Amino acid sequence: MLIKDFEFTLKDGRTAIIRSPKDEDIQGVLDYLYISSGETDFILRYPEECTKYTAEGEKQLFDRINTADNETMLVCIVGGKVAGNCQITWSNGIKTRHRAHVAIALLKEFWNLGIGTRLFQELIRIAEENENILQMELDFVEGNSRARALYEKMGFKITGVKPDAIRLKDGILLNEYSMVRKM
Ligand SMILES: CC(C)(COP(=O)(O)OP(=O)(O)OC[C@H]1O[C@@H](n2cnc3c(N)ncnc32)[C@H](O)[C@@H]1OP(=O)(O)O)[C@@H](O)C(=O)NCCC(=O)NCCS
Repeated sequence: MLIKDFEFTLKDGRTAIIRSPKDEDIQGVLDYLYISSGETDFILRYPEECTKYTAEGEKQLFDRINTADNETMLVCIVGGKVAGNCQITWSNGIKTRHRAHVAIALLKEFWNLGIGTRLFQELIRIAEENENILQMELDFVEGNSRARALYEKMGFKITGVKPDAIRLKDGILLNEYSMVRKM
């Protein structure tokens, strides 16, 4: 699904654009995937695992998502740079089409500027427009207090915990929490 582009003002006064991904974003998204993976343990990949992402693969991904009827990606652009993205996906299956899954990540230089809040407002609007969707779901890793604060602010509540779901390179095990937002 495509969304209509819109602009908003960051907490530091800069203007940001939120829109569907375009071919011109491919290199920016590849850079963002690689860099963001090394900036936090709360993203589920390490930078060296990003070699599987290619320009051709991203183009196919953008084309698929932009034409799908059950998923949308939003990219946030600040000063011509891809600051991050988010995604909402739901199943077409009769038994599970009431559940939409969402995910988000931004480059560290763009944290705490209100982008996550604005992206989530848009994800919620998209979910609300689909009468089949009764709940939005996501997961976050133990210790990710910024993400948790954002999700609670947007109406998500913790519904469960998967113990030791994440194992870092140094062997540290972290729980993963599930959250649900009823529509
Ligand atoms: C988590 C993330 C998406 C949040 O987006 P963001 O643009 O930084 O969030 P916002 O600026 O819109 O809002 C963050 C809120 O958390 C609050 N906050 C910031 N740091 C916090 C902390 N350590 N503990 C609690 N709350 C915190 C902020 O005050 C703000 O609340 P407010 O708007 O009421 O003032 C972003 O920081 C990010 O990409 N992090 C790395 C990747 C990641 O963790 N992705 C999520 C995986 S589940």
